[in-house]
Amino acid sequence: MAEVKKRPEPDLARINEVIAEYEVQRWALIPLLQRIQEECGYIPPEATQPIARAVGLFPAQVQGVISFYTQLYTKPQGRKVVRVCRGTACHVRGGKTILKLVKQHLGVEEGETTPDYEYTLETVACIGVCALAPNIVIGMTTHGKMNPKKVGQLLGDRKGEE
Ligand code: FES
Repeated sequence: MAEVKKRPEPDLARINEVIAEYEVQRWALIPLLQRIQEECGYIPPEATQPIARAVGLFPAQVQGVISFYTQLYTKPQGRKVVRVCRGTACHVRGGKTILKLVKQHLGVEEGETTPDYEYTLETVACIGVCALAPNIVIGMTTHGKMNPKKVGQLLGDRKGEE
C-alpha cells in the first residue's frame, strides 16, 4: 500500500504576497491563477476569496474561470503527472491497454492522485509525436512505443509499496 499523506497545507502567506503583486488588475486573473498554481502546485480553495478581492471580481466568477481551464487544478497534484495519450494514433496502437496498465500500476483512475502525492494520472488528446505511438508523458519526458514491459519499468509495482 502506498503511504497515505495528509493534504499538503497551502502557504497562505506566500499566496497573499503573490496576490498583492496583481492587486487591482482585473486583466491579470489568469496570470495570477497561474502564479498561484506555480507556487502551490494547485489553486487552494482558501485562495479564491483573496484572489477575487484583489482583482475586483466575485469569488464565483473566479471559481468559474478556474473550472473552465482544465490546466488549472483545485486539488494537490502528484510530484509527477503521468499523461497517457488517447489520440487516434495511440489508440489504434494499443493506447487503451497502456492506460489500463498505468491505472493498475498507480492504483488510481484518470484525474486522481496517488495517496502519497507521487503521481497524478491524466489523459491527453494528442501529444504530437504520433509516429512513436502509443505514448505516455511522465513529468516533462515523453516515452514512446510503450508496451506492458515499459509501463512496468517506468512505474514499477506500486501496490507492494509500504
Ligand atoms: S495520437 Fe498519441 S501522440 Fe498523437
